[in-house]
Amino acid sequence: MSITILAIESSCDDTSAAVCKDAKILANVIAGQQVHEQWGGVVPELASRAHLQNIVPVVDSAIKQSGINPQEISAVAFTRGPGLIGSLMVGLSFAKSYALALNIPLIEVNHMQAHILAHFIDNHPTFPFLCLTVSGGHTQIVLVKDFLQMEVIGETLDDAAGEAFDKTAKLLGLPYPGGPLLDKYAQQGNAEKFHFAEPLIPDFNFSFSGLKTSVLYFLQAETKKNPPFIEENIHDLAAAIQRTIVDILLKKIEKAARQFNIREIALAGGVSANSELRKRLKDLGKKNGWHTHIPKFEYCTDNAAMIAITGYFKFLKGEFTTQQIEPLARYHL
Ligand code: KG4
Ligand code: ZN
Repeated sequence: MSITILAIESSCDDTSAAVCKDAKILANVIAGQQVHEQWGGVVPELASRAHLQNIVPVVDSAIKQSGINPQEISAVAFTRGPGLIGSLMVGLSFAKSYALALNIPLIEVNHMQAHILAHFIDNHPTFPFLCLTVSGGHTQIVLVKDFLQMEVIGETLDDAAGEAFDKTAKLLGLPYPGGPLLDKYAQQGNAEKFHFAEPLIPDFNFSFSGLKTSVLYFLQAETKKNPPFIEENIHDLAAAIQRTIVDILLKKIEKAARQFNIREIALAGGVSANSELRKRLKDLGKKNGWHTHIPKFEYCTDNAAMIAITGYFKFLKGEFTTQQIEPLARYHL
């Protein structure tokens, strides 16, 4: 008998629904939310309202695209956390009602675990592997021992890597979310023109708030001398900032790989869409003899396909939840 999972993701500002049948993704529909751009960041209340508007049409189109009959769905998986509580509540309430209506089981999914398991959609790292998970809210190095057995061995002490991209992009006058734009500007820039200090953080932990402050002070001093400094140097500034963030990330994953003696290395989360990070991780992998696993673009940023595949592995283990379940804004691996 085949297993068909309907999955819902609503942890931040993307409403997504996916359908998978025996680990094969049949549909993955994502509705973004433009409403936040004018505010320079995600406004939680506006995100919840947009999820409410999007959830029914998004699920409907995922089911239609997949070609399945709703009666075939074996279970409904949803993101329990971490994320914005109001946003999570919309996806969770929808999933509960759907499961109740069809009288099928519910599966709760940790969003960070799902980013990692997105690798099993069409690529297969072997266990144990190390995953560098870099998103807008988290930066972690995770030792992945099995599908549902993971240990965080290092994480950020302050801002996440995605936040470092978004906040420094904002200092350059770029709109939210600045990460992808900073990546674009950096492609025509000279990363050697400016240098920003890297923090000295022990173990496998990260810190990005110092970079944001040093970029701020540097830009304040330079624009005082030359007001159009940012516009004149935007490409080189973007390239230097991006290089610094990628350096910080790669040094730690290299250190972890050496210490744990693991050559199977994966990248996950929204920042894994960054072109320099993708390229330099591949190069570092070649140098060190690693198998590097870099996700397809469509599975880097938030999507329900990763919730569906995680739901599938949990279904196989019989890990179901009840209608009493509540969302978790903070949810450790
Ligand atoms: O995983 P994700 O979609 O959402 C969270 O769970 O947080 O990650 C979103 C983050 C944002 O900070 C966004 O700016 C960043 O990923 N991002 C990028 C790129 N594409 C997305 N950062 C740098 N370069 C990119 N190309
Ligand atoms: Zn995410």
